[in-house]
Amino acid sequence: MRNHEAERMQGIPFSNIRAIFEEVDRLKAQGRQIVPFHIGRPDFDTPQHIKEAAKAALERGLTAYTSNYGLPELRQAIADSLAAHNGLQVDPERQIIVTVGANEAVLLAMLATLNPGDEVLIPDPMWLHYFYCAQLAGAQVVSVPLRAEQGWQLDPDDVARRITPRTRMVVLNSPHNPTGAVYPRETFAAIAELVEQHDLLLLSDEIYQKLRFDGVEHVSPGALAQIAERTITVDGFSKTYAMTGWRLGYVVASPLLIDSMVRVHQYTTVCATSFAQAGAVAALRGSQACVTAMVEEFDRRRELVVAAFADLPGGLQPPQGAFYAFPAIPANRTAQEWARELLREHGVAVVPGDAFGSAGEGYVRLSYACSRADVQRGLAALRESYLRSLTP
Ligand SMILES: Cc1ncc(COP(=O)(O)O)c(C=O)c1O
Repeated sequence: MRNHEAERMQGIPFSNIRAIFEEVDRLKAQGRQIVPFHIGRPDFDTPQHIKEAAKAALERGLTAYTSNYGLPELRQAIADSLAAHNGLQVDPERQIIVTVGANEAVLLAMLATLNPGDEVLIPDPMWLHYFYCAQLAGAQVVSVPLRAEQGWQLDPDDVARRITPRTRMVVLNSPHNPTGAVYPRETFAAIAELVEQHDLLLLSDEIYQKLRFDGVEHVSPGALAQIAERTITVDGFSKTYAMTGWRLGYVVASPLLIDSMVRVHQYTTVCATSFAQAGAVAALRGSQACVTAMVEEFDRRRELVVAAFADLPGGLQPPQGAFYAFPAIPANRTAQEWARELLREHGVAVVPGDAFGSAGEGYVRLSYACSRADVQRGLAALRESYLRSLTP
């Protein structure tokens, strides 16, 4: 048989992070205990009141397709939450689509707005999903380097220097995966200027917005009047409410952009799972004490991570949000080498930084969303390995 793979698939590899999952599964099958620093998934179960709401929805027969846009009561709850916490005033009937995870939201946004040959500016290191969704849409990704010595903050001048007549979109993700950086208001203001001046779109992925530490502010660029109609806001329930398997996210944009995106959604997933959406209503409308408790626990683990790297030569920029840290690796290893060594010799799974783009070489990402005992065991092993690498 000839090769039936579409040309558009040829630059799309199997996810690097998934490859690590498979190696971990192999080792576990051999009886090894692995510290799962590679997984970006809260170790908590979904809060009970959210599960009860989904169960009750099933019992009352909420089992058919919903509107393509999502359950009206969920869209209203999302609009109310955006108004209360993000300063965004949106029409729940025309400006929101509930999606199968934020993953689908990003794909809809890119397929609906990008043409072959368009350029998309993305800070590097990045969550690679943006890269491959842009590629599926036929667009070119232009990396904007982030630097550890600048706290992994985005320098708007680096964005400005890369804008060409073909630039169509800028992607921002704050709090940031994989570095944990949170961008301040001035960064968004400067990017908004560029986006408006060059007639661009801004895709803002805010999935970690509730997971912040030390009182840092979260800014939603969709609330900046100047670029409100050019901003596509993406968020979801996976991280904030420990609902990764529920596959629920949403996209918020101008009615015109939503109109294009919903047509992609109609021909792909149709709607997010009906009774799962009822759970999401309970997540937004119910007590937020579960979120506060999770953030407090993540913060305690974050402190352990920061302390573990404090006296190591490469250092670690203290993360301000999400549940990731992006420390420097021993100088005499590549990220892939150190990640492999940590997994095979110490049973600690991390993601090599270059899996997030070329600016991630020299770093690894560790997720401290696993149990505190695992965090402690994993950090001890990382330190031991790092210190051993310093002795000739
Ligand atoms: C930055 C970022 N956005 C979106 C997602 C995907 O979330 P969802 O589970 O809602 O598809 C992830 C998951 O790792 C992520 O890191």
